[in-house]
Amino acid sequence: MTATRKIAMGAQNWLYPLPALLIGAMVEGKPNFMTAAWGSIANAEPPMLSVAIRRSRYTRKGIEEDGSFSVNVASASQASEVDFCGIESGGKVDKAAKCGFTIFYGLPARAPMIVECPLNLECMVKQIVELPTHSLVIADISETHVSESCILDGKIDVDMMDPIVYITSPIRKYGRLGTTVADAFSAGLNL
Ligand SMILES: Cc1cc2nc3c(=O)[nH]c(=O)nc-3n(C[C@H](O)[C@H](O)[C@H](O)COP(=O)(O)O)c2cc1C
Repeated sequence: MTATRKIAMGAQNWLYPLPALLIGAMVEGKPNFMTAAWGSIANAEPPMLSVAIRRSRYTRKGIEEDGSFSVNVASASQASEVDFCGIESGGKVDKAAKCGFTIFYGLPARAPMIVECPLNLECMVKQIVELPTHSLVIADISETHVSESCILDGKIDVDMMDPIVYITSPIRKYGRLGTTVADAFSAGLNL
């Protein structure tokens, strides 16, 4: 990309691309899933992640009560389910039933996970940092489950997984990964 003049657009929480994760938790004894784009890996050893959840979310209650949750990575073909879990609340609708999810449970994390999602991370809450609107939930990843159909020669096949991508405001659309362009940790060696 060539150098261009910059236009200041104020403080925005724009970051492209984002994931569109399905966060699973037991809330009031029932499995519930909500969509979260503000999730990321947070630590290497032990593997940890963080997800920012608005305090008013029904899911937030279950995460705190149970001390565990799951992160389910959906495929681009699951855009309707991902969107539904992001516009309806588990306080009013049984989202898992409506989406037709097949649920399995982890150990030691007891959180519900979705069989139809190619990648599932079991998470144990480590710390919750209260920010002005959101709770930043920091967790240990205690187990990782990958659909057998997305493993090739013992390695994850991301093309098969086809993880859904979220393109935030002002676009507000779902997409998928494009083509690879260079090898990481080596493309920069020629500079
Ligand atoms: C694409 C997308 C991304 C979202 N990301 C987040 C997020 O990172 N954090 C959050 O608190 N809510 C996020 N939401 C909103 C919640 O998913 C939504 O309020 C949901 O209804 C909460 O479900 P619950 O009431 O069952 O917990 C997102 C919604 C969509 C559609």
